[in-house]
Amino acid sequence: MIETLPIDITKVAKSNLENIDFEKVVFGKTFTDHMFIAEYSEGRWHDFKIVPYGNLSISPAMSSLHYGQALFEGLKAYKSPSGEVLIFRPIDNLNRLNLSARRMCMPELPEDIFMQGLSTLLDLDKDWVPNTEGSSLYIRPFMFATDEYVGIRPSDTYKFIIFCSPVKSYYTEPLRVKIETFYSRAFEGGTGNAKCAGNYAGALFPAKQSQDKGFHQLLWTDAREHKYFEESGTMNVFFQIGNKLITPELTNTILDGITRRSVIQLAKEWGIEVEQRKVTVAEVIEAIKNNTLIDAFGAGTAATIAPIAVVGHNDDIYTLPEISQRELSIKILKRLNEIRTGVSSDPYNWTVKI
Ligand code: COI
Repeated sequence: MIETLPIDITKVAKSNLENIDFEKVVFGKTFTDHMFIAEYSEGRWHDFKIVPYGNLSISPAMSSLHYGQALFEGLKAYKSPSGEVLIFRPIDNLNRLNLSARRMCMPELPEDIFMQGLSTLLDLDKDWVPNTEGSSLYIRPFMFATDEYVGIRPSDTYKFIIFCSPVKSYYTEPLRVKIETFYSRAFEGGTGNAKCAGNYAGALFPAKQSQDKGFHQLLWTDAREHKYFEESGTMNVFFQIGNKLITPELTNTILDGITRRSVIQLAKEWGIEVEQRKVTVAEVIEAIKNNTLIDAFGAGTAATIAPIAVVGHNDDIYTLPEISQRELSIKILKRLNEIRTGVSSDPYNWTVKI
């Protein structure tokens, strides 16, 4: 364990911050002044640096471009009312990054590199953390194979980078989602529970088909029978049926979402019965039809809690209860926001102050 990471810092000559209006940013298109980079070769991480955010020089034969040995994470930082920068559950993201790394034959990243790289970067770019309602700093750590080699084998060299982006909400309106009954996001024994780049590329075509039909995203179902729900777009999915909060149990086809974990913990503490189990398409459609489906939402870092307004299944369109009338998802989002922004105390030690 390295006590203090030797990070070589090159600052921007002039910050770009004065040109940015946090209220007008489009998700994922505005980047802070700096980024953190670490290199991996000969079995160790080295050459830690922070440099101005900018382009990389890469070989056209770089293996991750061809074979997808690449993974990423997403987490957020918030500004407390007193101006402190709070990162939400970063160690959970690191643990998941390392789970993805093992699945993708990539090197794990030690905690000190992740946390010191992240906190040094956020300290430099702290003025970029918005403090306006509904805004945050989205943090994108990612790792990719850098061997200049066209043969297929795990790369010997990797780059790990963290850059940041001030954001507002990911979705600007309640979701219209379509239940997917042909394509699959993941299958048993595949890479569904790893946050690897290829999972997202494979989802684009079916998602686009649903978008062409007026939906925002897909409700993914299991690859074998398309009978059980898995995820919603790039998020985990929750249904409130009667008094119970129900979500698909984690398997190796479902990403272990950190927002998912937080939702479950909060709901249980409020005395709500939470079921993590196989959730059938049939029972949810039945609950919509007999008006026992009270709430439905996606949960993920980028979107936080994204209410589902409309569900399409085959040729049927179901309109779910009015969003403003829903209690649970609204209460969860409010509580999460209070904790993440330090407006209320954090009994769970989810936030890390830099
Ligand atoms: C996240 O919620 O952080 C995600 O990974 C979604 C992303 C594809 C924007």
